[in-house]
Amino acid sequence: MQNRKSYYITTPIYYPSDNLHIGHAYTTVAGDCMARFKRMQGYDVFYLTGTDEHGQKIEKVALEKGEKPLAYVDEIVENIRSLWDTLLITHNDFIRTTESRHKEVVQKIFQKVYDQGDIFISQYEGWYCTPCETFFTQRQLTDGNCPDCGREVERLKEESYFFNMAKYANRLLEHIEKHPEFIQPESRRNEVINFIKMGLEDLCVSRTTFSWGVPVPFNQKHVVYVWFDALINYLSAIGYASDNEKFERYWPANVHLIGKDILRFHAIIWPIMLMAVGLPLPRQIFGHGWIMLEGGKMSKSKGNVVDPIILVDKYGVDAVRYYLIKELSFGQDGLYSEEMLVNRINSDLANDLGNLISRTTAMITRYFDGKLPEPEDSQPVDLELQNLASQVYQGATAKLENLDFSAYLITVMKLVSRCNKYIDETEPWLLAKEESKKNRLATVMYNLAEAIRIILILLAPAMPTLPERANRQIEVFDNPGQINWEDAGRWGLVRSGATVKKGEILFPRIDLKTLEEEPLMEDSKTKTDKLEKEKAVPPQPEYISIEDFARVDLRVAEVIACEKMEKADKLLVLRVRLGEEERTVVSGIAKNYKPEELIGKKVVLVANLKPTKLRGTLSQGMILAASDPDDKDIEVLTLDRIAPGNRVK
Ligand code: ME8
Repeated sequence: MQNRKSYYITTPIYYPSDNLHIGHAYTTVAGDCMARFKRMQGYDVFYLTGTDEHGQKIEKVALEKGEKPLAYVDEIVENIRSLWDTLLITHNDFIRTTESRHKEVVQKIFQKVYDQGDIFISQYEGWYCTPCETFFTQRQLTDGNCPDCGREVERLKEESYFFNMAKYANRLLEHIEKHPEFIQPESRRNEVINFIKMGLEDLCVSRTTFSWGVPVPFNQKHVVYVWFDALINYLSAIGYASDNEKFERYWPANVHLIGKDILRFHAIIWPIMLMAVGLPLPRQIFGHGWIMLEGGKMSKSKGNVVDPIILVDKYGVDAVRYYLIKELSFGQDGLYSEEMLVNRINSDLANDLGNLISRTTAMITRYFDGKLPEPEDSQPVDLELQNLASQVYQGATAKLENLDFSAYLITVMKLVSRCNKYIDETEPWLLAKEESKKNRLATVMYNLAEAIRIILILLAPAMPTLPERANRQIEVFDNPGQINWEDAGRWGLVRSGATVKKGEILFPRIDLKTLEEEPLMEDSKTKTDKLEKEKAVPPQPEYISIEDFARVDLRVAEVIACEKMEKADKLLVLRVRLGEEERTVVSGIAKNYKPEELIGKKVVLVANLKPTKLRGTLSQGMILAASDPDDKDIEVLTLDRIAPGNRVK
């Protein structure tokens, strides 16, 4: 493990003041996608998430519920852990700021920065917004309210410790200018630069008006400001001042993934804290956009909070993760609606991806008895597919490296569409009709399986259960639990002879009507796509096995007597002989045959058909005949040489 390159990625640590919603899930799923991608590339990844449990906001909510803060958050933290389990988040650690391993580091750092004179005591008088846990000056308020959330602020006057941020402002500006990748995306970087240039005020880093926090080590009347406390989680979780080897291995972090709302804390306060401690800065801070609803932000009071657990229950974890990663262009805000989610699942996953896998599986099962054939010589269309696969691999890798999640999935889905087009172009169902084209058919099937293998690798960071589920139908991996990213960059790795068999529908189509009381129309593009797909693979017959067929006992039978049935102008009553045995059969062929025409003929009888009475006569079998579509012309099957009683098979 020690020889591998490390990759340290973090999410914000969330406030356990309430259960989390789809917005929090967004950051954590995106981070998980990145962590899985890096692990597949062979990195020693440390993916960190956790909870930010101190501060006045949490203390207030707990008191309102009549609980002690820790007891209150304990329960929510359990829900958060189980949410991450449901979403298959592969974090390596979950840090809680109430743990002693964290509190000790906060106290050590506070002490160190104080000892070197960067933290000092003074009087504070200002406006405090509790939900945002932030002080504002009179000048910063908007109409007398919090400039960030618009809520009421409180006037606070207290003796506090202050952190001299201005001392490090120029060093930070230089760092930002020298390292364009440090704050991403670009627009957020400019916002931070402008803010620093306006001048940094001393930051109030302690509170005396409440006690739910980490005590200042040398003055127990004060607790450490919740943001100063929280940001330190990125160090305490990897063993700062307790496990040097681990700490050296992972610090500096490769990326802190955050929402744009907490950019200044991460891009200004945090780097300055690190400079004061004498530690290198994280390589990147990435501030993504927000998931918005049509009515604006999600909030409990509006009652419009989207619970990711319910979505996973309804649509499955792969589909929900896919949607989150694909739908929002990372860095920008995006709209969420369940209808958009369902449309995305139907068009990308059910129509394109699911259909590709099920068509390919059905064809290999049908044409090659469920064994992947060997490919033969390539034609230009095959090479085109192969080249596109290589471009998509490179493109998807580059997009992920840049945390451009949506573009990554858009890129991979191009290969899925190309494969569906490849099926339409190569028309395997026509190749299957001619024995001489069997080799060509084999090549087409092999190429499809190979492209599916590549697609499954590339989608694995976003949809972790997909490779395993698909592999049960089309066995493109020996071990779907252990796949390497680089293998998607190579063509020809899938093994001929691999087993292919039909299985569960990977992404069932969802009926939008089930979402709304008012039935919603299928959008026209989805509809055309669907029709096209249906055209591409001709409807498949319902096959029966040879054993099924063998259950029908067909015998050669000689007609020894025949007459018209009374008062029934369509029916003849035949007496037939099968070897020693004789039977009576009623048949609806009177319009096409005179009784005497049939006597002496050898016909084919379904001998084990359940006897049934027709117009009072017991019919003991059925004779076979072919007919035109209107049943006007009917011709009875007859034989010449084989003796009565023998089997027809
Ligand atoms: O800010 N869309 O915690 P928090 C996208 N404890 N992302 C969203 C979102 C939305 N609608 N709503 C929330 C805190 N998020 C601090 C962090 S870190 C040292 C301390 C995500 O529970 C987004 O990543 O309010 C945002 O930054 C984070 O949740 C805020 O979580």
